Amino acid sequence: MDDLNDKIQKAADWIAESATVVVFSGAGLSTESGIPDFRSPGGVWDKYDPEDFSFQNFLASEKSRERYWQLATEMYESIKNAPPNDAHLAIAELERLGKLDCVITQNIDGLHVKAGNSEERVIQLHGTSLYVTCLSCNKRYERDPIQERIRQGIRAPYCDDCGGPLKPATISFGQSMPVEEMQEADRRSSTCDLFIVIGSSLVVQPAASFPLIARRSGAKLVIVNRDPTPYDSVADLVIHGEAGVTMAGILQKVRKMVTN
Ligand code: APR
Repeated sequence: MDDLNDKIQKAADWIAESATVVVFSGAGLSTESGIPDFRSPGGVWDKYDPEDFSFQNFLASEKSRERYWQLATEMYESIKNAPPNDAHLAIAELERLGKLDCVITQNIDGLHVKAGNSEERVIQLHGTSLYVTCLSCNKRYERDPIQERIRQGIRAPYCDDCGGPLKPATISFGQSMPVEEMQEADRRSSTCDLFIVIGSSLVVQPAASFPLIARRSGAKLVIVNRDPTPYDSVADLVIHGEAGVTMAGILQKVRKMVTN
């Protein structure tokens, strides 16, 4: 068997014999759904200045909030109707086969749940773009009605209840990480026996600390990513390839082993 097939077989064997599998996903998981990632050529940070998206910048002025909402609206357009791809569907099947403890995701596109994973098994470290919250009173809004206000000419929306600034419920650079999600991700990473990274450059902390926490707690670490990552040297298995076809190939083998 060729090297790639050997690796796919090994990943499938490890999933089949594992008691607790944690999947860790990044933007590379959603590029095959038409959503650009951040650091590949042509990615989001090629188009926009990350500074424009920082939390401090958002708070700085009405003008910077208007700019933020202009960019966030453009990005939301690529997320709103994006379909889950084969990699998302494979991870949802892992749950159906009883082989998934949870998904820890950096993604804000909601595609794991759209693909069939249960909400309670998806830990969103960087929040979600599907909702909007008021930074003053925490009131939560569905995203689409707020986008309708933007479409009708509002350049930076404010809360109906308290007049505070509204922001998509994502975690921006400089914004504090969600405490409960971080604690839960730490607990799951420390107790799993197999940790599978899919589609992440693993360069943004603290999210990128979880693969190492899992490895140090005795889990096997598998990385499925198109490009090399800083953790390849400590991983037990690295597959440099496309997430969709790789995960579909792994699930094809797991399905046979688990259902026979
Ligand atoms: N299959 C496999 N890997 C892919 C694919 C694909 N189809 N498409 C892209 N990749 C890989 C790229 O090689 C890259 O290493 O996915 C990785 C995506 O890396 P980033 O763009 O850095 O995305 P991510 O790791 O999720 O970024 C983390 O940075 O800007 C912040 O908040 C943002 O959550 C994001 C965080």
